Amino acid sequence: MVKVNENYLKLKAGYLFPEIAKRVRLHSQKINPLDLIKLGIGDVTEPLPKICIEAMSNALKEMSTSEGFKGYGPEQGYKWLREKIAKNDFSARGCEIDADEIFISDGSKCDTSNILDILGNDNQIAVTDPVYPVYVDSNVMTGRTGNALDKGGYEGLTYLPISEENDFKPEIPSTKLDIIYLCFPNNPTGATISKDEIKKWVNYANDNNSLIFFDAAYEAFIKDVNIPHSIYEIEGAKNCAIEFRSFSKNAGFTGVRCAYTVIPKSLKGICSYGDEIDLWSLWNRRQSTKFNGVSYIVQRGAEAVYSQEGKIEVQNLVDFYMNNAEIMRNRLINAGFKVYGGVNAPYVWLKVPDKMSSWDFFDYLLEKSNVVGTPGSGFGLAGEGYFRLSAFNSLENVTSAMERIINI
Ligand code: MLT
Repeated sequence: MVKVNENYLKLKAGYLFPEIAKRVRLHSQKINPLDLIKLGIGDVTEPLPKICIEAMSNALKEMSTSEGFKGYGPEQGYKWLREKIAKNDFSARGCEIDADEIFISDGSKCDTSNILDILGNDNQIAVTDPVYPVYVDSNVMTGRTGNALDKGGYEGLTYLPISEENDFKPEIPSTKLDIIYLCFPNNPTGATISKDEIKKWVNYANDNNSLIFFDAAYEAFIKDVNIPHSIYEIEGAKNCAIEFRSFSKNAGFTGVRCAYTVIPKSLKGICSYGDEIDLWSLWNRRQSTKFNGVSYIVQRGAEAVYSQEGKIEVQNLVDFYMNNAEIMRNRLINAGFKVYGGVNAPYVWLKVPDKMSSWDFFDYLLEKSNVVGTPGSGFGLAGEGYFRLSAFNSLENVTSAMERIINI
């Protein structure tokens, strides 16, 4: 019989969000499903920006003519989109990123997992705890960890705790780590990191020849002008960091699929015989072999995000969700909950009341109020005792969910 990848057998339970969906499905059988309010998975609810729809329908029409038809596109993405990104997301913030250091993809979830393809299995890897579970699970699946530990987590991974004590910012390690995943604005805690704080990480990485995976999927939600949107705003970051960005949350592309990853040409890795290899070439090789690129239509939609009208529409979407986050924070704080995040991020991270466990609170809230959130322990051991609420929903649903939570 065919042999399976036994690393998958090390994975604990299912992926967090399908597990939540399963419990919600069971609960829905007992109630009117329309009564459910889902603030669990961070999936957007508002329609796409009009300018993106227009750009995508024009692209589709173009494809319906012999002159405008397109077959396979470049695996790295169309030049015109990469150039718009370089100009608007980087040059405009004083970062020098070349268009060809930008690789268009169908999602940051895929990219943060696939990037492991180009890196050795014996790197010492660190994640924060709590953490976006994809980082951990993809390391488990590719055999970069040992077994699951009884107390939670996996052998072989280094966990950098983030909690109220350190303001949800990981301490700089005292030992050498090869790869460090950082996500800011943070999923799940909604915490942010200042330029000075991220500078310490860049210095650490450059001093230790480490590589930072900087997931900036939520940068559009930053309101505070002092918080960096990109790690490349920090000098030296081009020698030690890969950045992941997405159109999912700012432009509502979770169902359209478009993201990008920045691999500076100055980034190097080392091979066993001591030669330095540039990571850009390896990723370019990987993408050319395993990826066919994002569709022309979708890339035209993403390009429209950078038009004048697109910028306004995207800002309106961001403001809409951040207004939800503010309402959530205020209502919960007034009701006596201890609340974090939700100021420069679309996630509100609250302390579970009455010393309940995160999953018990999840079940209790679902049962009593038909509101779905995400149990903090699903993001790691240190997430136990916390609960994440997403601001991605209609104003009506968010307001009503807060009333229900406050009154249970
Ligand atoms: C989340 O809820 O954490 C996000 O939706 C996950 C994702 O973007 O993949």
